[in-house]
Amino acid sequence: MTDTSHNHRLYIETVGCQMNMLDSELVVAALRQEGYELTDSPKKADTILFNTCSVREHAEHKIYSALGRLKYVRRRRPQTVIGVIGCMAQKDQDLIFRRAPHVDLVVGTGQLAEIPRLIREVRARPQRQPQKAVSLDRTSGSVTRIADSFRSYDPLRDPDMRPTPFQAFVRIMIGCDKFCTYCVVPTTRGPEQSRPPSQIAQEVRLLAEQGVREITLLGQTVNSYRHTENGRLYRLSDLLAMIHDTDGIDRIRFVTSYPRDMSDDLLQAVRDLPKVMRYLHVPLQHGCNDVLKRMKRGYTVEQYRDMMHRIRDLIPHCSVSSDFIVGFCGETEQAHEKSMDAVREFRFKNSFIFKYSARSGTRADELFEDDVDDRTKRRRNVEMLELQNQISEEDNAEFIGRRVQVLVEGPSKSAEKAARRQPPPTGRPLSVQLMGRSECDRIVVFDGNPRLVGSTAEIEVSDCTGTTLIGSIVTREVRHGSSELLPILS
Ligand code: SAH
Ligand code: SF4
Ligand code: F3S
Repeated sequence: MTDTSHNHRLYIETVGCQMNMLDSELVVAALRQEGYELTDSPKKADTILFNTCSVREHAEHKIYSALGRLKYVRRRRPQTVIGVIGCMAQKDQDLIFRRAPHVDLVVGTGQLAEIPRLIREVRARPQRQPQKAVSLDRTSGSVTRIADSFRSYDPLRDPDMRPTPFQAFVRIMIGCDKFCTYCVVPTTRGPEQSRPPSQIAQEVRLLAEQGVREITLLGQTVNSYRHTENGRLYRLSDLLAMIHDTDGIDRIRFVTSYPRDMSDDLLQAVRDLPKVMRYLHVPLQHGCNDVLKRMKRGYTVEQYRDMMHRIRDLIPHCSVSSDFIVGFCGETEQAHEKSMDAVREFRFKNSFIFKYSARSGTRADELFEDDVDDRTKRRRNVEMLELQNQISEEDNAEFIGRRVQVLVEGPSKSAEKAARRQPPPTGRPLSVQLMGRSECDRIVVFDGNPRLVGSTAEIEVSDCTGTTLIGSIVTREVRHGSSELLPILS
């Protein structure tokens, strides 16, 4: 007997990087086409999906505990379908069914297009049969076969299916071939594959027609992009030039860059193309050459320094952010001090700092002992965060008295919290605290009418914290109809 009594309510929880946020958006869009509606509570949903991340153990723990909490849901509501999708699905595969036997669906990053069909299949049988769709292991055959089993999932999107109408992620490549020794991404996302430039340009045009003004190009090592089409090789610099003049697009960003592939042609493109934001996320990961070598990052601190000099020489006022791992195998106190020195020297706009988490299947896990105890990892993490915050605040203070251009994204976090605590009376409030990002990717907050969301504004900065510039609107853009832009004094 087929169970048709389900209510088409979908609950999806997403962890991990922007790649996962985009994947979730596309999966939701596909399921909406099948009549699903999103709900913010797993209790109301008959389809519950977790889009997962394996990069650190903590992220996986959170998913396994969330799955544990759903153990009895199926007993109460037998029509519920529970699925684990994304990186952990690809990495853990059958282990997920063993640890959480009530899971119906395990779908890897390369099979996301199959989710609607697989959900139907689970429901079609009275005796539930778990469904699994994953890609080949990276050691299980020829590179082409493995690459073919990881399919990029980039269906064209409908306008009402994006979380914000004027911003969009666009994937330009999938996978990673760098194999840093600590990292699971090459396993969970498969071989590095760049999408054809013509497809990307078409997607950008369509998004622009739908009202998108800012696009963020995504790739694990986005500046390693290379694709030959009609006999011509396109690198990221060529792709940026190709999409730059798309009508309607005002801002283009790309993340995340790999230090060794930060070539001059790319830096020149960032300098010369006015819509490309002056912001590079190019993680150093560590400040000690011995550690970098064990991480197999493929560069030394000296080479990274040369790259930073090229950035500073070629692109004035370009901000750079980094990632760091503290407590990697064999990290001595002196090695940690070298990482601290690097934070001092390079003055990143911000740094994402992570405690090393040993991941099974990685080279580091096979070769080295995870010998820095958790307390030390935590202490080094806090030390580095404090140093970075102090530097960020000092550099943010340089903006006081200056003007920055922002694209207004929405209410600030604190305004959102306040609205949740005390919803505004009927009608729109005239002024709330809004947030946007400057052209160098700094978060800026200011008071303004919520109608400004989606437009650009010039903000005079009057104060700052380590993470935020605080200011007030000087001029804003008025949009009459769809295209006329008129700066006025507010
Ligand atoms: N593709 C990006 C990063 C992907 S993972 C890049 O190459 O820069 C995001 C960040 O997580 C990494 O930059 C690294 O700092 C961190 N990370 C990756 N594996 C980790 C691990 N095993 N333990 C702790 N942090 C890790
Ligand atoms: Fe992971 Fe290194 Fe690839 Fe980044 S470049 S995704 S850290 S293997
Ligand atoms: Fe995590 Fe996968 Fe992204 S492991 S960081 S969600 S590519």
